[in-house]
Amino acid sequence: MRRIDKIEPFRVMQLLERARQLEAGGRHIVHMEIGEPDFSTPEPVLEAARRRLDSGQNFYTPSTGAPELQQALSTWYAGQYGLDIAPERILITPGTSGAFSLIYAVLLEAGESVLLSDPGYPCQRNFIRLAGGEPLNIPVGPATRYHLSAELVETNWQENTRAALIINPSNPTGTLIDEEELALVSAACARHGGWLISDEIYHGLTYGVNPPCALQCGHAESTIVVNGFSKHWAMTGWRIGWVIVPENLIDPARRVMQNIFISAPTLSQFAGIAALGAEREVEVMRQAYDERRRYLLDTLPGLGFDIVVEPQGAFYIYANVRSLTDDSRAFCWDILERAGVAITPGEDFGVYQSVQHVRFSYATSMDNLKEGVRRLEQYLRK
Ligand SMILES: Cc1ncc(COP(=O)(O)O)c(C=O)c1O
Repeated sequence: MRRIDKIEPFRVMQLLERARQLEAGGRHIVHMEIGEPDFSTPEPVLEAARRRLDSGQNFYTPSTGAPELQQALSTWYAGQYGLDIAPERILITPGTSGAFSLIYAVLLEAGESVLLSDPGYPCQRNFIRLAGGEPLNIPVGPATRYHLSAELVETNWQENTRAALIINPSNPTGTLIDEEELALVSAACARHGGWLISDEIYHGLTYGVNPPCALQCGHAESTIVVNGFSKHWAMTGWRIGWVIVPENLIDPARRVMQNIFISAPTLSQFAGIAALGAEREVEVMRQAYDERRRYLLDTLPGLGFDIVVEPQGAFYIYANVRSLTDDSRAFCWDILERAGVAITPGEDFGVYQSVQHVRFSYATSMDNLKEGVRRLEQYLRK
């Protein structure tokens, strides 16, 4: 099969398209399928961007990023996690999506594999395939809080495996990996001479817990951390993220960056510096997400949505719908058509027990969530 033929579409987009069609025909749809903050970017960030725009200084930055943002992130890591990270190790990318294309291009030779959790964020499989690699999707469940464990890494590591990926908190489950387990996963990767890649894009969006940065757990010299401004700072459209690499990867990464995107968007990089100072605004959003999370945790189980591990991060709830259907895809489509509520079927996140699961996103207002729950209740009563 040609590489491009292995690239899968985001299936939920079809559901979203149908939802938009229904809306165009006058129906009101409650959107609980979209994984994008419903908040606008905080005002101080907008102000900083306006100032930068007016300055006329919107040329390319160095490929690895504006030194001012690299320095600001280095300071931010010291404040948030007590980590001392040299600014030049923090490479600025167009979204974390840009960071992943970059990292897999740097790390993978054709046919080399990366261990991923199933269920997991679907784009990862495709990033790896585009770099010529092989995603190894490992079934995970409640026993490991839907994360890879050190044992799973050990048993599934192949001769040609180069890395294991942890997304913490997880999309689609919102669950966190135990701190000790993360250290053990890091040690397992190091033992095999491979990398731990940690996607921390939902850090900061956690409720009652503060997960450590993977660089604080275990083997920092073989750990790569990816993060970005999209979720915590509500900046999806700014396309700005970063990746922290060890010294020896800076040069190879720079060569790839020079070629594939020259530099991340300059305006967004300077907006990012302001975002790091917008703590108050970000905290207001976090509290709103937490309130919505608690509302759904209180109401969904009563409707038959079984939430086996309490999600403590991101804005997702992954629910088992075994008692309601044996085909979550047909179930989600029917709910859309008949109840006007959009949720994501498990098939978007993998194959393991996907027909038994759906993902709710609570990146929408409390009023919408209440209306969504009311409609689901009515639909399920019939
Ligand atoms: C786990 C995870 N990683 C990465 C991304 C990509 O984010 P962006 O490219 O906007 O930084 C997403 C987006 O939904 C995500 O859920």
